Amino acid sequence: MNPKIILDCDPGHDDAVAILLAARECEVLAITTVSGNAPLHLTTANALLICQLAGLDIPVHAGADRPLLVPAAHAPRAHGATGLDGPPRPEVYLEAASADAVRCIIDTVRSHDDVWLVPVGPLTNIALAIRQAPDIVERIAGISLMGGAVGAGNVTPTAEFNIWADPHAAQIVFGSGARVIRMAGLNLTHQLCVGPEVITALRAEGGTVPSFMADLFDFYLAGYRERAGLEAAPMHDPCAVLAVTRPELFTFGARQVDVETEGGLTRGMTVVDERPGTDAVPNCDVAFSIDAAAALELIGDTVCSYG
Ligand code: BDR
Ligand code: CA
Repeated sequence: MNPKIILDCDPGHDDAVAILLAARECEVLAITTVSGNAPLHLTTANALLICQLAGLDIPVHAGADRPLLVPAAHAPRAHGATGLDGPPRPEVYLEAASADAVRCIIDTVRSHDDVWLVPVGPLTNIALAIRQAPDIVERIAGISLMGGAVGAGNVTPTAEFNIWADPHAAQIVFGSGARVIRMAGLNLTHQLCVGPEVITALRAEGGTVPSFMADLFDFYLAGYRERAGLEAAPMHDPCAVLAVTRPELFTFGARQVDVETEGGLTRGMTVVDERPGTDAVPNCDVAFSIDAAAALELIGDTVCSYG
């Protein structure tokens, strides 16, 4: 039986892949959106656009339009001003099911057993849901998130964007006591990269979704090439979906992870206790490696399956 998930996202090029993948690999009870790569009205429209293009009948609920305490910040350098720059943008005719993602998360978890929360943007919605309804923590199967890093960050030397964008929310999530928290951080997601050969294969496949995704990947890869000199671009967000549906592709290590919320140089850093023999109590299964070839093949096949 496919796992039941709520995908909390801020599309975002790699979020778009996560949506397509989740819809094939999971029972997606809801997609919830958050301010992150772009302002909330755009991340919501982008989630609806992906559902529309792929013919997905999944309710999309708009959520938090700003972080808990820090000012909203976005990622136009990686995702463009719209959050999904690259392809020509069709008109979006689908509409959001509600503007209350937090209510949706709480009600869905309370009415279904063993739901996975899969956040792949800033953790604002998840933290608000946990704060408003602490009972949901015991009801969920787990939280599989894309965020953080063991090692270098991307938005600052020490911080990854999703955690940096709302560090206080992230600390609530890591400190929630959820029975399983899986973390796909940058140390992991940079192992799963899309290069020109994937784009060529999607163009050769043709069809609305593969062609749209090829255009998205072109834009996304050009940014990584320019900023970081990379010839292939990391597929961050699909890793959090695969950590639920295909855990056998990963190696995990149990670690204590906390978030620096205030540090002048280190705000948003995931502080992972790597000390040998530490008596720290692990709260997180940190992903350290992925079978990238298998994951990439699955992603390619999934995108092509939409035609
Ligand atoms: C994360 O930030 C966003 O730009 C991506 O969608 C991903 O969720 C990577 O740091
Ligand atoms: Ca994202």
